[in-house]
Amino acid sequence: MLNYIEPLFRPPSEARSLILQVTNGCSWNNCTFCEMYTAPQKKFSVKTSEEITQELQQISASGVSVRRVFLADGDAMTLSFRRLKEILLLIRQYLPDVQRVSSYCLPRNLKNKTVEQLIELEQLGLKLMYVGCESGDDLVLEKVAKGENYQSSLDALTKIKQSGLKSSVMILNGLGGRLYSEQHALNSAKLMNEAQPEYLSTLVVSFPTGMERFQQGFGGSAGNRAGENVGDSFESLQQMDLFKEMEILLDTLTLEKTVFRSDHASNYLVLKGTLFRDKDRLLTQVRTAIHNPDQIHLRQEWQRGL
Ligand SMILES: C[S@@+](CC[C@H](N)C(=O)[O-])C[C@H]1O[C@@H](n2cnc3c(N)ncnc32)[C@H](O)[C@@H]1O
Ligand code: SF4
Repeated sequence: MLNYIEPLFRPPSEARSLILQVTNGCSWNNCTFCEMYTAPQKKFSVKTSEEITQELQQISASGVSVRRVFLADGDAMTLSFRRLKEILLLIRQYLPDVQRVSSYCLPRNLKNKTVEQLIELEQLGLKLMYVGCESGDDLVLEKVAKGENYQSSLDALTKIKQSGLKSSVMILNGLGGRLYSEQHALNSAKLMNEAQPEYLSTLVVSFPTGMERFQQGFGGSAGNRAGENVGDSFESLQQMDLFKEMEILLDTLTLEKTVFRSDHASNYLVLKGTLFRDKDRLLTQVRTAIHNPDQIHLRQEWQRGL
């Protein structure tokens, strides 16, 4: 029924949502760790109003009741205020049961949108922004070519909050390698403490198709696997180092009311809770994984995925 250009990605929490592909690919598509939209057919493009209307008409005619919509692909919030408003009005027209529309959102996507415009979009059903901050450390962000920094990420998260929207932030465990692990954890926690997002999840940075592009960003040569050191550039964190980085992150977080999830398939250790309330329990779990790994369930390598 839907004319998807595949592959298609969505956050785990949108598993039961209608995925409405209003853009194809990612408008930035430069992050050295991300291979999600690198296939030739995923070159960034925008779907026309006619295409979107036609898809919504078909879903409406099928009689399926849709309550949640996720706007794909990688950063649908790159669309102008005018286009987003038009899409939200179409969703309202054809799928009147929808209660929540969400999207991936890069900080730069919000630069040319005012708080007043975002409030208007919120009133039309846009409720949740998934923001891949990945790190709060400027050096790490530069090395992975995220095109964002601490301040631009904070500005976007603040704007989201001021507009009454919620944010769900992704931080990548292991992104700075061994050399930058501590500053990555400390500055990521600092960014989260300032921004106080409603949701925070951590994923373990993974390289299913190789590390060449990523290594180059750190000034090194290609081809090391987890735990192998390549020169002085990027040394992947081993399982134990990932836990130690997580310990620093959790220990430094002073979140007041944030749903924390570290349950994505890339994680070895599944952590779930609400911060601040569950901070001690989560820290105990991480410390058990570090000091008594035989006393806690850890995902095996074959159980992991991206
Ligand atoms: C499909 S991307 C879209 C997110 C959006 N473009 C952004 O950057 O905010 C969703 C998330 O997947 C995660 N991701 C991408 N490549 C990854 C990798 N190699 N390992 C682990 N997580 C990855 C990142 O956290 C990224 O923000
Ligand atoms: S992480 Fe997000 S911004 Fe970076 S290339 Fe992937 S989809 Fe684009």
